[in-house]
Amino acid sequence: MALRILVTGGAGFIGSAVVRQLLDDTPHEVLNLDKLTYAANLASLATVEGNPRYRFAQVDICDGPRVAETVAGFRPHAIMHLAAESHVDRSIDGPSDFIQTNVVGTFTLLQEALRYWRALDGEAKAAFRFQHVSTDEVFGSLGANGWFTEATPYAPRSPYSASKASSDHLVSAWHETYGLPTIITNCSNNYGPYHFPEKLIPLMILKGLAREKLPVYGKGDNIRDWLYVEDHARALRLVLEKGKIGETYNIGGENERTNLSVVETLCDLLDELKPDAKLPSHRSLISFVADRPGHDFRYAMDITKISRQLGWKPIETFETGLKKTVEWYLANEPWWRSILDKSYRGQRLGLGG
Ligand code: NAD
Ligand code: TYD
Repeated sequence: MALRILVTGGAGFIGSAVVRQLLDDTPHEVLNLDKLTYAANLASLATVEGNPRYRFAQVDICDGPRVAETVAGFRPHAIMHLAAESHVDRSIDGPSDFIQTNVVGTFTLLQEALRYWRALDGEAKAAFRFQHVSTDEVFGSLGANGWFTEATPYAPRSPYSASKASSDHLVSAWHETYGLPTIITNCSNNYGPYHFPEKLIPLMILKGLAREKLPVYGKGDNIRDWLYVEDHARALRLVLEKGKIGETYNIGGENERTNLSVVETLCDLLDELKPDAKLPSHRSLISFVADRPGHDFRYAMDITKISRQLGWKPIETFETGLKKTVEWYLANEPWWRSILDKSYRGQRLGLGG
């Protein structure tokens, strides 16, 4: 059955992958509701722009009346909520937008979704889903051993993760108290094409291409569990289709790497795919800089639940995914050049000064 799916944050990195997949691989209609902050890029949706099953509405999720109007006009079968302020370093420098969008915005969207859902009748009401996309960072920081499971207690440590944890709690409360049919997913660090270059992987690719220093925080021994964005988008579609109401699902890449090893691998890929005669190797650009305040040491997801219950596993290995990503940035300079020219030039963020 063709559904109408309202995606918030569809002009962002993960949201645009979800929108592209929904339009390319399903018969569904999509309304992308996005405020278009610095992190948004409509160029990421160029391939679907003319699709008759796609619409866009520039709306702030904190604006209740506009959200209500958009929801009423589209009459979604489901809402996939990805809109958020998403960068830890920016949350250290300016937490206010994170509280506003991630907490107040999610609250506003929940209220409007609830109002809309309550007015639906029988079948439509039973089939409706509110899917909330969150992060592994709500669980805090791991030591060398262990993994986050769905039962791990929340222990957020950055303004970003605290705001996402708050939003998760609101979503659960709207389910428990009002019966809104919600599902939460928590995923690990995504990477891939169309990633805004303030995040580690695209930042290092673009700095490497510009022969600039590659700033590795601390000793580079912090560990992240990297998930290819297209694998994540597939998981979100599956959870929407088959996930159980009121449940949470962890999504991860089963690809744990230290930051230093990620940066070294990127340097080796640049040496192979875009050799620079002026450099012995891109690795010579690596430079260790002051650590991020409150830097979480390690994230790692146990994905047993989603793989056993829904049959999802990441397809991409880190090696294949990273190579595809570097190739994409090499082939899509106009996409990232316009960001560097307009909204972000690669400066250090998050020292909280
Ligand atoms: P992103 O920063 O690339 O994009 C966020 C999008 O949300 C942008 O298009 C922006 O314009 C929009 N937005 C921001 N504030 C808004 C508001 N008030 N109203 C409407 N739209 C607004 O983020 P992303 O990396 O694509 O992340 C998407 C979601 O996934 C977020 O909820 C994030 O917390 C979560 N997540 C991301 C990662 C990751 O590695 N990127 C990992 C785990 C979870
Ligand atoms: P990031 O992409 O900001 O994601 P998150 O903080 O949500 O995990 O950072 C990934 C890791 O890379 C994190 O441990 C911080 C580190 N990092 C650097 O070492 N240098 C950088 O310039 C950036 C942006 C991040």
